[in-house]
Amino acid sequence: MLSEDINKRPIGVFDSGIGGLTVLREIARLMPGEDTVYLGDTARVPYGSKSKETVIRYSREVAGFLAGRGVKLIVVACNTASAYGLGELKKTLAIPVIGVIEPGARAAKRATAAGRIGIIGTEGTIRSNSYVNAINALSGDKTRSVTEHGEKGFDRYFEIETDVLTVFTKACPLFVPLAEEGWTSNDVARLTAEHYLNGIKGRGVDALVLGCTHYPILKDTIAGVMGPGVKLIDSAEATAEETRRALAGDDMLNGAAGGAKREFFVTDSPERFVAVGKRFFGPGLDTARLVTVGA
Ligand code: DGL
Repeated sequence: MLSEDINKRPIGVFDSGIGGLTVLREIARLMPGEDTVYLGDTARVPYGSKSKETVIRYSREVAGFLAGRGVKLIVVACNTASAYGLGELKKTLAIPVIGVIEPGARAAKRATAAGRIGIIGTEGTIRSNSYVNAINALSGDKTRSVTEHGEKGFDRYFEIETDVLTVFTKACPLFVPLAEEGWTSNDVARLTAEHYLNGIKGRGVDALVLGCTHYPILKDTIAGVMGPGVKLIDSAEATAEETRRALAGDDMLNGAAGGAKREFFVTDSPERFVAVGKRFFGPGLDTARLVTVGA
């Protein structure tokens, strides 16, 4: 195929549901001429509380659907799917695959002056330790100690020290339904955020990674709890930049200035996806088509 044809092919983006629209929004803002195909696996959301094996299987099926639509690159916009499935997808797909973890980890490392980073995400993302591993790899793998706190596996927060960085992680599962419900700045959201974040806040972090697609929707509430000295890292922006870099590096950028075509697919309830998704994506999301992926 001529590279000109490849350039005109769309970017594929997937998430367990609606949250990945925050990543798509950044991709659309940064590369307004790139066509996109988005798939939200709304029939099987949430991924965040599922096992590694299940998330890998779902990711493979959803990425297979996008590859079948002829996309030139796939963005795994879901943190949990990136945490568990990215390696597998990179191994099995013939097109480039970008996840959200590494871009977020890099942005956090750049942002911290104190060398103390907080990571929040779903149970799966936190359990996988993938942000910690990514930050550790960026720091030259000089881990000195890892301490676990908390009783339940997902409720622990890690304290991981490298030569230059200390990282604290915490699962915040209730942020996802709050964002979907639109309860982003009321008392329930604030109390939930305080409950989850007070531990990390007390550890003197100056950068906090919003390691879940839904958390940017609660940005103001999270910022209010963490205080003005803490930079919030939205991996959506960093991932869009990484996507542009990857396309440019492979000479696959479309180059059009605007007028991109956007297609949306879901595995359940297109009407709900459009109604709630508008809050995440803004204008330009008017219809979504129902599809079946996997068995
Ligand atoms: N998209 C998921 C993530 O970023 C959050 C929702 C879910 O648990 O599926 O981890």
